[in-house]
Amino acid sequence: MKVLVIGGGGREHALAWRLAQAPSVSELHCAPGNPGSASVAKCHLSSDYVVLAESLGIDLTVVGPEAPLVAGVVDKFRAAGRYIVGPTAQNAALEGSKIYSKRFMEKLGIPTARFETVGSPDEARAAFAGFRFPLVLKTDGLAAGKGVVIAQTQAEAEDALTQLTYPLVMEEFLEGEEVSFIALCDGKTAVALEPSQDHKRIFDNDEGPNTGGMGAYSHSGLLTPEQRSHILEAIILPVVHATSFTGFLYAGLMMTASGPSVLEFNVRMGDPETQPLMMRLDCDWAEALMASARGALTGSDLRWKPQPATCVVLASAGYPGVIESHKLITGLDAKFKGEVFHAGTRQTHDGIVTAGGRVLGVTALGDTLQASIHNAYAGVRQIQFDGMQYRKDIGVRGLRRLQ
Ligand code: AMP
Ligand code: GLY
Repeated sequence: MKVLVIGGGGREHALAWRLAQAPSVSELHCAPGNPGSASVAKCHLSSDYVVLAESLGIDLTVVGPEAPLVAGVVDKFRAAGRYIVGPTAQNAALEGSKIYSKRFMEKLGIPTARFETVGSPDEARAAFAGFRFPLVLKTDGLAAGKGVVIAQTQAEAEDALTQLTYPLVMEEFLEGEEVSFIALCDGKTAVALEPSQDHKRIFDNDEGPNTGGMGAYSHSGLLTPEQRSHILEAIILPVVHATSFTGFLYAGLMMTASGPSVLEFNVRMGDPETQPLMMRLDCDWAEALMASARGALTGSDLRWKPQPATCVVLASAGYPGVIESHKLITGLDAKFKGEVFHAGTRQTHDGIVTAGGRVLGVTALGDTLQASIHNAYAGVRQIQFDGMQYRKDIGVRGLRRLQ
């Protein structure tokens, strides 16, 4: 089949890389893709995706990022009678609006932090009384993982009130370990992907501001089989049944002492969680995606390698704030036991240069989590660009847990 991947980040390069190896794929296209996906697919600049799919005779389209989903790309493809993996615009609001998402969870009885919505700084101050510190403030709309403030004290919360846009969600702070639980859904049922963990803060030891994700790893031991079935039954399937959800449903979970609680729903795969997940996937990805697009998913559609995988993100100086771009990247062709997924890169006459906050995701499998971390950092050490920053402790939390 002919497959189109929409998006141009690290997640989409990883999706395309895995699709390029699927026996059922005869042609692979990306829009817009990036210099990394260009090595496995043909890249197109058109952003009229339906017209592009029609002109290329695409059989199946997969959407990476949230923005086209929120803008209704799935609705447009379905109206044109074309298969696509992703949720409708209405269901994409689960990610596009925190308020919608929190109210929806409340209605369905899905476990999530107690919350209030506030429309102004004055309303927020009045609501402080009902919460303890630390407390969490979240802007309502899409914010690329950066619209969340965890205020340790009332003074910090007061400070944040002047910087955030309204309305916002105020919610209780939850303690525990975070897990990214992603399921592929077909409108009636859902199949869970392997669990993964993301590292959201910019600096080692989870310090500094939140980012889109500085690295991720996946291994089977992150959740017990009982926890996985509980999450599927209590969190994922209620959403699928209530909304006929299609595409990827990503529950960002806090594993609290009283069980898993949803921090957020995303309506797409995670970036960078997709990078280690695609390394672990061990089946024809296009066939599994087509089964979901046709509404015919079965529990046996996804198979995984038992080996863990780790992805280390290399970011530009200044990220997640104001970044420097156009720095020449060296070492991209160095040999190591893994893959370098491109995110913010651009091909120029001089070579491949940086063109975004998160530049590359160096990803590797290993027989153990420790080996996958070792293999990924062996790749990292060969790559260089001016101002390159990365965390040195990706996966270390997982190692501690396994001890
Ligand atoms: P979100 O965009 O809602 O996933 O929030 C981004 C990050 O902020 C999460 O990955 C958590 O690390 C943290 N966070 C969000 N909500 C809470 C909460 N209620 N309690 C503790 N940490 C939170
Ligand atoms: N890595 C977090 C996200 O994709 O939302």
